[in-house]
Amino acid sequence: MSSAPDRTAAAPRVAIVGATGAVGTTMIEIIEERGLRYSELHLVASSRSAGRKLTVAGREYEVQAIEEFDFGQADVVFFSAGTTVSEKWVPVATAAGAVVIDNTIAFRMDPDTPLVVPQVNAHELDRRPKSGVIANPNCSTIPLARLLRGIEDRWGIRNAVVSTYQAASGLGYSGVEELQESTRASLQGPDADFEPQHFKPALAFNVIPKIDRFLDSGFTLEEEKMLQETRKILGLPHLDVTTTCVRVPVANCHSESVYVECQSPVDRAELVEVLAALPEVKVHDRETVTAFPTPAVVGSSDLVHVGRIRATQNNPRAFWLWLVADNLRIGAALNAVQIAEELIERDTL
Ligand code: A2P
Repeated sequence: MSSAPDRTAAAPRVAIVGATGAVGTTMIEIIEERGLRYSELHLVASSRSAGRKLTVAGREYEVQAIEEFDFGQADVVFFSAGTTVSEKWVPVATAAGAVVIDNTIAFRMDPDTPLVVPQVNAHELDRRPKSGVIANPNCSTIPLARLLRGIEDRWGIRNAVVSTYQAASGLGYSGVEELQESTRASLQGPDADFEPQHFKPALAFNVIPKIDRFLDSGFTLEEEKMLQETRKILGLPHLDVTTTCVRVPVANCHSESVYVECQSPVDRAELVEVLAALPEVKVHDRETVTAFPTPAVVGSSDLVHVGRIRATQNNPRAFWLWLVADNLRIGAALNAVQIAEELIERDTL
């Protein structure tokens, strides 16, 4: 499908804030691939990138500094430039009349802002939100919520215990670059001069059970986000989901080990069928129980990959599964573009 500008009155004017970053670049790819309709496209970043030329669907666009950009030129604005940028500039965009799809934590728990995973709660997009903002959830929460929806609907969830294995790209390009640099330094030997900026201690040949800052509870903010956001997306305010979030030396694609205890007994064969029937989910052990997804094999993918589906031996209501999802696409850019597609389809822009 081509995404050349669509000049019809119905096609929205689109802006991407953070267009030069890891999520912004992925968003541009996805807009091209899926042929999202737009009548104008504006690429916005920091003043460092002003004047840079980027090609989208064969047309060259000049990146504009956010301070110079007139948000009145856009009907829908994607924000993926960090929380402080969203806190400062999203109100400017909404005051100018744009609908914002925000990829940061800034507005996710605001009661006037829907938190949307289109495969789960697209009905939230039936009307324009009071705040003018639609929040894109955390990258690990999105694939988890997509699977939990199907499980809750069939068996009811008593509780879920999740460990994440999160890739360096969760921190953008600078995260991936630091993983590469720390790996090179480690290979040079213990005397190599390397001071980590983002991942501490260094991520190369390591795993770090801390993502985002610690809270007084001893959990991290990332772990708290997964609990609160999953509850909000699923509309289950008392859902018991507890998480350990771990950074691993993988460039891209988050993995999660998920234990779910349900209200009623779960038959493994039926569970496989229920998961495989969910939209844009691929179950790897349908044919052979020994197949499983991994980040390097999944690569860049628009599916949530599931494997290692195991009924527990001592509790007929419980099971384990393993999931892998591209955090830049499923966990960020694709979800945001799919929100925009739903808004266009429902005419709620
Ligand atoms: P820039 O490339 O000009 O720094 P990533 O997630 O890969 O780190 O990318 C972050 C994105 O957010 C980039 O597009 C970056 O632009 C943008 N960005 C960072 N700081 C600001 C800022 N203060 N104002 C506008 N955009 C920003």
